[in-house]
Amino acid sequence: MNNFISIKTSIPGPESLKIEKDRDRYVAQALGGSLSPCYIAKGEGAIVTDVDGNRFIDLTGGWGCLIVGHAHPRVVQVVKDQVENFTHTDFTAVPYDSFVDLGKRLVELAPGTAEKAACFFNSGAESIENAVKMARAYTGRPAVIVFENAFHGRTLLTMTMTHKNMPYKYKFGPFAPEVYRLPYPNTYRSYIDLNNFETIMTNLVNPETVAAVVIEPLQGEGGFNIPVNGFLELIRELCNKYGMLMVTDEIQCGIGRTGKFYAIEHWNIEPDMMCLAKSLACGLPLSAVIAKKEITDSLPGGSIGGTYVGNPLACKAGLEVINIIEDEHLLDRAAKVEEKLKTNFKNMMNKYDIIGDVRGMGAMVAIELVKDRTSKEPAPEKVSEIINYCIQHGVFVPSAGINKNVLRILVSLVITDEQLQEALDVIDSALAEVS
Ligand SMILES: Cc1ncc(COP(=O)(O)O)c(C=O)c1O
Repeated sequence: MNNFISIKTSIPGPESLKIEKDRDRYVAQALGGSLSPCYIAKGEGAIVTDVDGNRFIDLTGGWGCLIVGHAHPRVVQVVKDQVENFTHTDFTAVPYDSFVDLGKRLVELAPGTAEKAACFFNSGAESIENAVKMARAYTGRPAVIVFENAFHGRTLLTMTMTHKNMPYKYKFGPFAPEVYRLPYPNTYRSYIDLNNFETIMTNLVNPETVAAVVIEPLQGEGGFNIPVNGFLELIRELCNKYGMLMVTDEIQCGIGRTGKFYAIEHWNIEPDMMCLAKSLACGLPLSAVIAKKEITDSLPGGSIGGTYVGNPLACKAGLEVINIIEDEHLLDRAAKVEEKLKTNFKNMMNKYDIIGDVRGMGAMVAIELVKDRTSKEPAPEKVSEIINYCIQHGVFVPSAGINKNVLRILVSLVITDEQLQEALDVIDSALAEVS
């Protein structure tokens, strides 16, 4: 029985169709389509109501930006209060305390013992760009190591660092120089022996020319790939051995999503820099690099920054997101969400052969769909059929993976068990339909 989902019109409804017509004419097609054909009127927790009055359960969380849900009343309140005071100064023109306070909170939460400092930017890609800039300046080296299936953004450098060609790289070259890509041995498709990893690396690039190894502790867009045991520790070890900086991209997996505030805490590793964005300010444009202070302090003042970085609305939202995570015990909630997702998906795996794997951490769990469990041949068409079925039945659920054959859950931690179960029941029916 549906309690939270309510579909009253054809999907998309007439009001959404009207807006879509103008979109076709006036919005650049190169931005691509939206997962939902329905336009949002209101979001509340994990529920989205569209402009036709249809109600959906949202498992996209705005591509992982809404760890505390849509329109959390406490975030709404601090942003409203801030709007009435000032919306912008540029911190380097007239400074404000929330910028400093948020930096302090993020540094205090960071793993390890080295002194750290925070710098803010606008987007995830911008934080990665700046981490690489700082690593190059600090080490005096040009090269960057990245991984297969990685996604780091769409600017010139981060698009180069991103693995997938279409659509991200299309004809956008020439690409940035000195980016080297290595395998990311993961629990489902691991094809190299960790004992050979150092040789593979040193055959590809002279590590003494490498400024930074940029790695997602758990890959997002690439398919929620979990590193094999010992891989992240090995990266830390190789970084120490060759003087390369270890930079973690926690843009999708950070801010409590995996059940720890920083995902890398699961491995008890201290990176040299950590990049954050997405849920950091509940989807307001804000990203951060939390870096060892000896790195940031080695650069000249004014060498990093930007007009909008650390916008006061976003900093206030960011502080409140951290408070909510603590007050509402959302890190514990992430473990419960993981358990519920995995139990349901494993039951589905027993019923449907097309599920090749169930994996993930916290509120970042996926199923990988394959044509055959032995060959592991990807089944992307099944994923798109499931997504379409779910939309028609009131659930927004996204795909991932270089082959688009992964169905991933990036749900808010404020979703109730009942809402999550209702959404999972829809996914179960979708799998029954396409199997
Ligand atoms: C792991 C990761 N890194 C970087 C980015 C780029 O962030 P943005 O789109 O804010 O530039 C994303 C976005 O999805 C991401 O998931």
